[in-house]
Amino acid sequence: MANQEEVFKKVISHAKEYGFVVQSSEIYDGLSAVYDYAQNGAELKKNIREYWWKAMVQLNQNIVGIDAAIFMHPTTWKASGHVDAFNDPLIDNKDSKKRYRADVLIEDHVAKIEAKIEKEVKKAAKRFGEAFDKEQFLGTNQRVLEYQEKAEAILKRMGKSLENEDLEDVKNLIEELGIVCPLSGSRNWTDVKQFNLMFGTKLGATADSAMDLYLRPETAQGIFVNFLNVQKSGRMKIPFGIAQVGKAFRNEIVARQFIFRMREFEQMEMQFFIAPGTQQEWYKKWKENRMKWHLSLGMGEENYRFHDHEKLAHYADAAADIEFRFPFGFKELEGIHSRTDFDLANHEKYSGKKLQYFDPEQNKSYVPYVVETSIGLDRMFLAVLSHAYEEETLENNSTRVVLRIPAVLAPVKAAVLPLVKKDGLPEIAKKIVEDLRWEFNISYDEKDAVGRRYRRQDAVGTPLCITVDHDTLQDNTVTVRYRDSMEQKRVAIAELTSIIKSEVDMKHWLHKMDTA
Ligand code: GAP
Repeated sequence: MANQEEVFKKVISHAKEYGFVVQSSEIYDGLSAVYDYAQNGAELKKNIREYWWKAMVQLNQNIVGIDAAIFMHPTTWKASGHVDAFNDPLIDNKDSKKRYRADVLIEDHVAKIEAKIEKEVKKAAKRFGEAFDKEQFLGTNQRVLEYQEKAEAILKRMGKSLENEDLEDVKNLIEELGIVCPLSGSRNWTDVKQFNLMFGTKLGATADSAMDLYLRPETAQGIFVNFLNVQKSGRMKIPFGIAQVGKAFRNEIVARQFIFRMREFEQMEMQFFIAPGTQQEWYKKWKENRMKWHLSLGMGEENYRFHDHEKLAHYADAAADIEFRFPFGFKELEGIHSRTDFDLANHEKYSGKKLQYFDPEQNKSYVPYVVETSIGLDRMFLAVLSHAYEEETLENNSTRVVLRIPAVLAPVKAAVLPLVKKDGLPEIAKKIVEDLRWEFNISYDEKDAVGRRYRRQDAVGTPLCITVDHDTLQDNTVTVRYRDSMEQKRVAIAELTSIIKSEVDMKHWLHKMDTA
């Protein structure tokens, strides 16, 4: 674990040093849990967004995309339940004066139990070697079963207490588990209290006429209030989906782990409108579909798992997370929620406008049910970045830091490098850049020895380097060097477009969803 913490620290400083992510308004000492994306980060983020949009909107005949405003009429948030129920249970440690989310303290405790299970698995795998059957071990080993039972019982009790608003029991649970404040080490806790996460602001010039507004805490409501507009103007037939990508804001109390939990972040959400009674079938389909999207990026099946919710959000009748193995353990990356007709029915009630769909097959009108998929763009960015980071020891015992970002998402697709800054090589290299940049994000670098330039490109995750040398002057060929294998090939300049395409083409990557 300590090792993983070290790795995570390195990822964070690498992100800053190589122009991916920096703290917002850093010259004023920053703003807690608010971050800016620098030149490489902005490209990577855009590529993730496009990968999602292509898969979700453009490749699905029955899903369309919108872009709703961040400001919404304040009644939206009354209808959605956020004014009354979008709370975090907070607890303070009286000695350190530090504030925590009570559920996070308990979940961290459970994560420690899960880490013990992993340790047992590793030990047994070593002991049994080739003959080791993980599934069998997990299902039969007495100690592991006890750990599992303990973890499940804790989560179940917490879920129930939170659902029943029994905050006293949440505190009791923290005390019974002997959870201490990570800072002071003490068990001197206050009572647990609810805290609303929405940011308030005002619309209007004068104090009396100003209207209280909220910055949206999720993009989903912009879709719900536009359901009928889109359905009618797009002549959409159920089942159909509406997707959008946009900013969301939450006054997170426990803002930590870099861009994992931010106060201003971006969501990529899709609401799928369906006939009542079909929600289980669609919930299952979307769970599968979203997992396939993740697996298509090749970041390792073992790094993902589903976590079915015990504690359901105020709008859901079933919910699961896709969790990813971040350097600080398995954590939520995406949520898939069966939201019933909760939102549309409430917007009908609060607005007095009908939000119904006439189903020609059933010959009746109804308020559709909704299955939603919701992923944080920044959290996906962190998954990609932390998974990509590697300090590799090479055959000659030197090391290189390489970001093995899936090539389709890499900020820069290829770098063109003249071997020397003379003899006409820069001119040829620049001409290659001019030709390629219409299709790909290409960089040009002529400074320092070529080996150092390769390292610089490895550090930002550029899949290909193209080197122009004196042979190029004779035969119009260049050297292509691959980031991951460091293999080098001599190819004709005319082949470059198709070589880059075969590495980075979205079509090729998204087709992997078919076999995932
Ligand atoms: N519309 C449903 C919804 O908002 P959620 O589980 O609260 O559900 C969905 O959020 C996703 O948004 C999460 O899985 C996570 O990836 C991302 N997310 C939520 N809060 C976040 C935060 N404070 N910082 C970064 N990403 C966040």
